[in-house]
Amino acid sequence: MKFSQAPSLLLLLLVILLFYQHHSSPNLNSKTLSSFAYAISLAPSPSPSLSMRFSIPSSNFTLISSADHKKEKKRNRIEEGLAKSRAAIREAVRSKKYASEKEETFVPRGAVYRNAYAFHQSHIEMEKKFKVWVYREGEPPLVHMGPVKGIYSIEGQFVDEMEREMSPFAASHPEEAHVFLLPVSITNIVHYVYRPLVTYSRKQLHQVFLDYVNVVAHKYPYWNSSLGADHFFVSCHDWAPDVSEANPEMLKNMIRVLCNANISEGFLPQRDVSIPEINIPGGHLGPPRLSRSSGHDRPILAFFAGGSHGPIRKVLLTHWKDKDEEVQVHEYLAHKKDYFKLMAKAKFCLCPSGYEVASPRVVSAINLGCVPVIISDHYALPFSDVLDWSKFTIHVPSDKIPEIKTILKSVSWRRYLVLQRRVLQVQRHFVINRPSQPFDMLRMLLHSVWLRRLNLRLPM
Ligand SMILES: *[C@@H]1O[C@H](CO)[C@@H](O)[C@H](O)[C@H]1NC(C)=O
Ligand SMILES: *[C@@H]1O[C@H](CO)[C@@H](O)[C@H](O)[C@H]1NC(C)=O
Ligand SMILES: *[C@@H]1O[C@H](CO)[C@@H](O)[C@H](O)[C@H]1NC(C)=O
Repeated sequence: MKFSQAPSLLLLLLVILLFYQHHSSPNLNSKTLSSFAYAISLAPSPSPSLSMRFSIPSSNFTLISSADHKKEKKRNRIEEGLAKSRAAIREAVRSKKYASEKEETFVPRGAVYRNAYAFHQSHIEMEKKFKVWVYREGEPPLVHMGPVKGIYSIEGQFVDEMEREMSPFAASHPEEAHVFLLPVSITNIVHYVYRPLVTYSRKQLHQVFLDYVNVVAHKYPYWNSSLGADHFFVSCHDWAPDVSEANPEMLKNMIRVLCNANISEGFLPQRDVSIPEINIPGGHLGPPRLSRSSGHDRPILAFFAGGSHGPIRKVLLTHWKDKDEEVQVHEYLAHKKDYFKLMAKAKFCLCPSGYEVASPRVVSAINLGCVPVIISDHYALPFSDVLDWSKFTIHVPSDKIPEIKTILKSVSWRRYLVLQRRVLQVQRHFVINRPSQPFDMLRMLLHSVWLRRLNLRLPM
């Protein structure tokens, strides 16, 4: 397929057309706007308390009034539903009880969760009521179509899952939606629109994204009425965080669901969602490559194989490449097919940042039952509202790379077995199923968005 600038021009034309067609600007209630703006202003960073934190005074939502009473009623019903969910989650935390202990939805009381009761109840509430409106505007390949294989595949898989017929989370009408998905694919925009031979500027890419937001913000009242705070997009591309640069003021409330979650580059854990990078080969989902073999069957202390991408990997390779029997670090493997086999035989799998913070190794390691050693700085780990990564991984800051062996050797056998058992426990959150299933990776993504809409902080 060959693409010129046509898609973005088309979008631009569409914007202009829609602007003239729908110029009857609705009565924007300034009270609504300011109360929402207040509501979404970030709560102070979560304190280490075990109580739940709510930063939306729910009664403020009943202030919403509009000329259209039917709509108002609908909006109020939605907010009341959310208030009930918050109450149910609070109650689960207070009573330390699971509402239902059905096998398939049961979240074990395990240290891997910040609060298993809160998470369990919150997941149930989401399954019961969460509705997402996916905007219909736009054409593939820039919209409604993302990569479904390779390292950016969670982008395409998620949009595809939300757009499939019978998705239990699809709102049948935008009025009943809790959140709005902008089904834009940054990976495809980069692929089809970026012209490095002409210019390295990313302005064109920003424009395509902004054009899309403008289209929906002119056509419907939803963007304006929340100032974008209940709108989200999902992207695994390295450059995705950058799209907000297109118009920082306009896009500042939007929820960005990103693999590249570098808190030194504007990633805000309270607003944005960090998702794992997963490498799906071949474009079809096989059964997930899972290993449950225990620590006893893992003769290798630590394993890494990969290219010298970015500064952290350079340091790692300089210190450890082909130097140690126990800490096996390779730049290239003689046999590529041994890669996953070796991971399954290692106690620890080194997961250093590459050009960007995220690495598909984290998911591979977890699925192969290998305790991940996260070697990164400024990385907001995926699903951290729910998962306590310190309980099933080892974190090594980049300046401690020379000490890796000492650090790993100092982990007692008993502690290792605990870590490894917990890795097996979280495996189900790192597999992709189509259609998605409760607690799997796509649901974890959705649940992170649900928490932000609920505006509820799980204890940190
Ligand atoms: C509603 O929001 C305002 C700030 O806009 C705040 O002062 C007030 O306390 C809130 N009301 C309730 C009932 O929480
Ligand atoms: C939303 O706000 C923008 C900028 O203020 C305005 O141009 C647009 O018409 C509004 N959208 C709707 C649907 O009123
Ligand atoms: C994260 O952001 C900081 C600040 O821009 C940068 O120095 C660092 O290299 C980034 N990390 C990675 C792995 O790209």
